[in-house]
Amino acid sequence: MANPQLHLLELNAKTGEVFLRLRKFPNIILTPPRWEDEPLLIPYLNDPRVCDWLSGPPYPYTLQDSKDFLARIKPPADEVIQHLKDADPAAAPIIVGECPVWSIREVRGSEEVFLGGISIIRCENGELMGPNGVDWENKKKREEENNALAVGDPSIIWTIGDWLAPSHHGRGIMTDVIRTLLNDWAVPRMGVRHVWATAFTGNEGSVKVFLKNGFKLVTTHENHVVVKGKMRGLHLLEWQYEG
Ligand SMILES: CC(C)(COP(=O)(O)OP(=O)(O)OC[C@H]1O[C@@H](n2cnc3c(N)ncnc32)[C@H](O)[C@@H]1OP(=O)(O)O)[C@@H](O)C(=O)NCCC(=O)NCCS
Repeated sequence: MANPQLHLLELNAKTGEVFLRLRKFPNIILTPPRWEDEPLLIPYLNDPRVCDWLSGPPYPYTLQDSKDFLARIKPPADEVIQHLKDADPAAAPIIVGECPVWSIREVRGSEEVFLGGISIIRCENGELMGPNGVDWENKKKREEENNALAVGDPSIIWTIGDWLAPSHHGRGIMTDVIRTLLNDWAVPRMGVRHVWATAFTGNEGSVKVFLKNGFKLVTTHENHVVVKGKMRGLHLLEWQYEG
């Protein structure tokens, strides 16, 4: 029997790897990041249909960037899986501070084709967390305060980052990824109750994905930040758990 502490993750019978299966697209799964993903990120994160809408990944995106990224996200994902496996299987499922899955993969027969990434992490828009609108001066301090809140604290502000291979855009996949991740992992297993999502102005697809998942558009800041040499406006969307 599967370890109840892994609840709502499934186990790959062949490899023992955990995964989360999408609700509407059961052939698409979310798995932990794998080292073999390193070269697979590169074409997508250099494709303007993807990278123009992301603030995090550098451009041009190199193999070294990919190695650095996976070296940063893989250990915490592996640690949280181990932590879950080590927890008392007879106790109620524990609340954890990290999401163990990141890679979006399509199962095609015996193959699992890499399609993109999804993350839920503590919010990195501290400039928007103060009481008086945009406040760049206290950005770091606000993020540190949010990061200092204990695992499971319902007042933590989380954020979601996502991208998908252009070959699969517009099929409803990311809407399902976020619905599944929120409801089948983040809420029950991380205690997530409050999420901010941001999207550059003009990113209609991303805004729609969040709206379809119950997020509300809070504000739009024109000329908010320079990213990769270009001034960008930012939509802020918010989701709160309603029980
Ligand atoms: C934004 C992104 C994640 C959307 O993923 P997706 O799987 O294509 O989105 P979905 O198919 O679930 O679309 C949800 C809705 O948005 C619409 N939509 C998707 N892309 C759109 C676009 N470029 N313009 C307008 N509407 C769009 C869909 O038609 C759908 O609406 P409907 O249900 O009324 O038909 C994907 O386009 C992507 O990876 N973009 C590049 C990276 C990115 O922008 N990441 C988000 C950063 S904030």
